[in-house]
Amino acid sequence: MYQAVAPAVEAPIKDYRAPLRFWHWANALLISLQLITILFQKVIVKSKSAVPEFQQAMSKANVTITAKQGGAFAHIISERIWTWHIYFGWALVALWVLRLGLQLAGPSELRFSARLMEILRRYRLAPPVDKSKAGKILFAKTTYALFYIFLTIMVATGLIMIYEDTAFFGPMHHTAGEIHNVTMYLIMGFIALHVVGVVWAETKEDHGLVSRMVGGEAPNSKA
Ligand code: HEM
Repeated sequence: MYQAVAPAVEAPIKDYRAPLRFWHWANALLISLQLITILFQKVIVKSKSAVPEFQQAMSKANVTITAKQGGAFAHIISERIWTWHIYFGWALVALWVLRLGLQLAGPSELRFSARLMEILRRYRLAPPVDKSKAGKILFAKTTYALFYIFLTIMVATGLIMIYEDTAFFGPMHHTAGEIHNVTMYLIMGFIALHVVGVVWAETKEDHGLVSRMVGGEAPNSKA
């Protein structure tokens, strides 16, 4: 009897194993902390803009300080915030290295590129009736690919700024700062899209998605 050719082995397109779950939440936490440092640096504290207030407060105590002296004080405050930004930055570098390690040496389920290729294959082979669903999955995965690129840019430009005093990185410092700044907005855009997408998926067609990313895949469930 004729037997239909078996479909290609269903390679998993999602993975909720411990290393990836750890990576996901640690990364989410650190990016949030980085955004908080920027919120404090550029919006809440804005130490440079406090110089006139500082001068005024000192003059009430009959102490006159120049704008330069006030600026030196403001610099100390802003450096304190940058110090935390750099600590969190190093932790993000470590996570980036971990993700690269999983990508290069981990099993195929943990390799982003393998999963992206599988999703692309499923999209190409999907019958018209399933095309829209496969397209949504492909779209989500493409945004993750962009996110990895943004993260790589953040890590690289952040490191250039950390080593701005070296002859090699010094000349790139200004451009790196500008790229770092713009990429922050791209990451914020990704986060907004990601959160909306996850809430949409959780409520419409992928119930339990968030709890799987917290506690892992239930036994017997399929990717
Ligand atoms: C995704 C998370 C991150 C966000 C949202 C973020 C955001 C920013 C922003 C907006 C600035 C100011 C840039 C400017 O105005 O020129 C900045 C500066 C900086 N960032 Fe990040 N950053 C992140 C990750 C990192 C990482 C991973 C590192 C280190 C590897 C890093 C190191 C630095 C350094 C050294 C500065 C300059 C501080 C200074 O001027 O003293 N950042 N960051």
